[in-house]
Amino acid sequence: MRLIVTNISTLVCDRHGRERLCGEEMKRLDTIGNAYLLVEDGIVSSFGKMDELSGEGLRTDEVVDAHGGMVLPSWCDSHTHIVYAGSREGEFVDKIRGLSYAEIARRGGGILNSADLLHKLSESELYDVSMQRVHEIMAKGTGCVEIKSGYGLNTADELKMLRVIRRIKENVPMHVSATFLGAHAVGRGYSMEQYVDLLVNEMIPEVGRERLAEFIDVFCDEGFFSPDDTARILEAGAAWGMRPKIHADELAASGGVEVAIRHDALSVDHLERITDAEIEMLRTSNVVPTGLPGTSFFLNMPYAPLRKMIDAGCAVAVASDYNPGSTPSGDMKFVVSLACVKMRLLPAEAINAATINAACAMGQSRDFGSISPGKCANFYVTKPLPSIDFIPYAYTTPVISRAYLAGRRVV
Ligand code: NIG
Ligand code: FE
Repeated sequence: MRLIVTNISTLVCDRHGRERLCGEEMKRLDTIGNAYLLVEDGIVSSFGKMDELSGEGLRTDEVVDAHGGMVLPSWCDSHTHIVYAGSREGEFVDKIRGLSYAEIARRGGGILNSADLLHKLSESELYDVSMQRVHEIMAKGTGCVEIKSGYGLNTADELKMLRVIRRIKENVPMHVSATFLGAHAVGRGYSMEQYVDLLVNEMIPEVGRERLAEFIDVFCDEGFFSPDDTARILEAGAAWGMRPKIHADELAASGGVEVAIRHDALSVDHLERITDAEIEMLRTSNVVPTGLPGTSFFLNMPYAPLRKMIDAGCAVAVASDYNPGSTPSGDMKFVVSLACVKMRLLPAEAINAATINAACAMGQSRDFGSISPGKCANFYVTKPLPSIDFIPYAYTTPVISRAYLAGRRVV
């Protein structure tokens, strides 16, 4: 099956097939003006200038005329919690009235509230509500997503979440990665010590045996899991081949960055309270620091200093954190706008953070994150736009006219 997209005003591509972009490299987007894009069997085959296109190139099964729109790689959302039940707008109002995220959690709200709601749903009900969100993010241009468990907080409900993620993976053209986040909060009825034992001795082996998760995550933060508990949980996960991706430095400098580096994590996420010493440690590591600007926006709290991290030479990513408590949105275009406005990233830096570097934060940048020969053909075609910078600038204007995943139209 050969598909060609013609009359592309600007194609955002990567001729070099790079797997991540560090520091200064993030400032550049590779582009071709007046371009075509050829896809064969769901894989990017070639691209170039329209006037280089010969008769042979045009012998395809499908021709899509972009009519002067741009073509960009689909967003990669490397941090979400989109499998959840119900909603938490009550806490949203409590926060406006002055309660903090940590105070709500201490009163037994927050993550535990979502766990209670999730407990009441069957696996198939949970699948149905979660699929609505999956379709919502695909329509907004996401082509690769990581989904975490973490609203079960007991063995049966954590497995229920992970089986729902597996079913999503089997039924959508998006790439889906599964992360076990049993260590999101201490489940009801357990002490911290009992719960960490349960994670290590029961949950992780069950998840490992069923091969339900590629990655393991821990909420390593003040009032949640300590660096020592985090290390113990990550080691148990590593024994089943689960690579760490961890939550750290959201509520306080938690020591999570150091644990992440020591355990060869793919990414360390949040980082709103990261210290200069931790930035220095990240600069010389392969761990992808990931900012979640939607969370800072919604919780009205400081933004992670991604500008400083890029200037220090790090390969940073941004992701949505789509979840019912701190970020009820998976709109990656808005995430990119926030990264520009609030974190002072240039549009090219923010787009690279939300595509190639986010794919790297999921260990998927060989196949996803850019339009590059040999990679999966995940891209969207825009309406005619004045420039690439218009995308984050017009922060609520929809720009997508068509979206393709593995070369098939999904929007
Ligand atoms: O990434 N910080 C921890 N976990 C989520 C929020 C979960 C919730 O409030 O339901 C986050 O922001
Ligand atoms: Fe999160």
